[in-house]
Amino acid sequence: MIPIVTEASRAIRSVLEKAVIEDKAAGSFRVNRKAFVDQAIFEAERQAIFEKCWLYVGHMSEIAKPSAFVRRKVAGHELVMNKDRNGKLNVFYNTCAHRGALICREAAGQKRAFQCPYHGWVYDDCGKLVDVPGKEAMAPGLVEGGTLNLKSVAHVDHYRGFVFVNFDPQARVSLKDYLAGAADILDIVSDQGPNGMEIVAGMQEYSLPANWKLLQENSADGYHAAVTHATYFDYVNSRETERTPANPTFKRGRCHDLGNGHAYTTSRGTLPWGRPYGRWIPSWGEEAKAEIDEIVRQLTERLGEERAALVTQADRNMLIFPNLVVNDIMAITVRTFYPVRPDYTVINAWTLAPMGESATSRDRRLKNFVEFLGPAGFATPDDVEMLELCQKGYSNINGVEWNDISRGMNSEEPFSTDEAQMRAFWRQWHALIVANTKGE
Ligand code: FES
Ligand SMILES: [Fe+2]
Repeated sequence: MIPIVTEASRAIRSVLEKAVIEDKAAGSFRVNRKAFVDQAIFEAERQAIFEKCWLYVGHMSEIAKPSAFVRRKVAGHELVMNKDRNGKLNVFYNTCAHRGALICREAAGQKRAFQCPYHGWVYDDCGKLVDVPGKEAMAPGLVEGGTLNLKSVAHVDHYRGFVFVNFDPQARVSLKDYLAGAADILDIVSDQGPNGMEIVAGMQEYSLPANWKLLQENSADGYHAAVTHATYFDYVNSRETERTPANPTFKRGRCHDLGNGHAYTTSRGTLPWGRPYGRWIPSWGEEAKAEIDEIVRQLTERLGEERAALVTQADRNMLIFPNLVVNDIMAITVRTFYPVRPDYTVINAWTLAPMGESATSRDRRLKNFVEFLGPAGFATPDDVEMLELCQKGYSNINGVEWNDISRGMNSEEPFSTDEAQMRAFWRQWHALIVANTKGE
């Protein structure tokens, strides 16, 4: 097919090409604020990024039971993820082959069949159309022929329990290759549980009156923490009377580029909050200390001293391009988000935990999670407020056109308070949006 290049598509391509400007010699990295406000860029990134990349849907632990399913909205697509009667993982488009109604309205559950609520067509949990009321009016063989079954998303795969989809039938990169270095960090996070990891039941859903990319930047932004979250740090520092000494083998917190737009930041293991699997804090009491010491002992026996230290003591904030955050800090948050408009984003967040951990450990974990990471915790409202302020600031785009993301630009080993993780994101965003918007 010959691509049709219109004046409008030429204009958007030329805007996109100039949206990110990196000048290594000057130590400058700039992002044009149109990337956060422009409707044409918003539409281009839906096609060039969300319809091309591997995107997080859910976790295998959420569909562990027979014929279990969860309903998810991913990049504007209504989906159902399930494990069918044969134990196979499926991700179906949640739409009836008849006239389109959602075949699944519940958030989660167990079902061996999905009945469309509109005219009653029935699909089994493998997606096969098995019953149609008044089937005699249909041509013989049409119902059984397979063309009216539920449709699966083009590519579905999972890594360490994290399930991803890719909507692009032409996609050739495997999930493992796509994840690149991010797979190693998912390994570290997942190694905490001797029996695997599970999503704790329940999901937090909240919205942000700002562009989705601001949240991806923010989720591993070590630079903002002391200022934006001063209240939390004051509170924790006043509560905790002592800190775990730094592990001498850890360097100061760094930013790491993991390839393909993924990146993460690490800490030196001295931050003031507790880690349920590895860093005791005085406010948890002596009994908790004995339990955490034993957890660390067992992890060390299982993983060896060096890896166990990494798993238990170091905090890490990871961005998986384009829109998955796995932050392993005072608890583990798995967070994904989708743009509804250039200035409006819907966020889904879960907490991940070792399967089979004790009730006391789970209790510490959940309290930590809601205290800092939950939408009503110490951090999230602060972050939402800051991102909203940024979005409001972009109303001045005609006067002030560029964001500066240059911290640590010329450093060989950028610190976690630098912005190398954001530059990794933006380079990938820019490469994909320019490449995949060509020829439209
Ligand atoms: S739309 Fe589903 S049965 Fe008619
Ligand atoms: Fe924050």
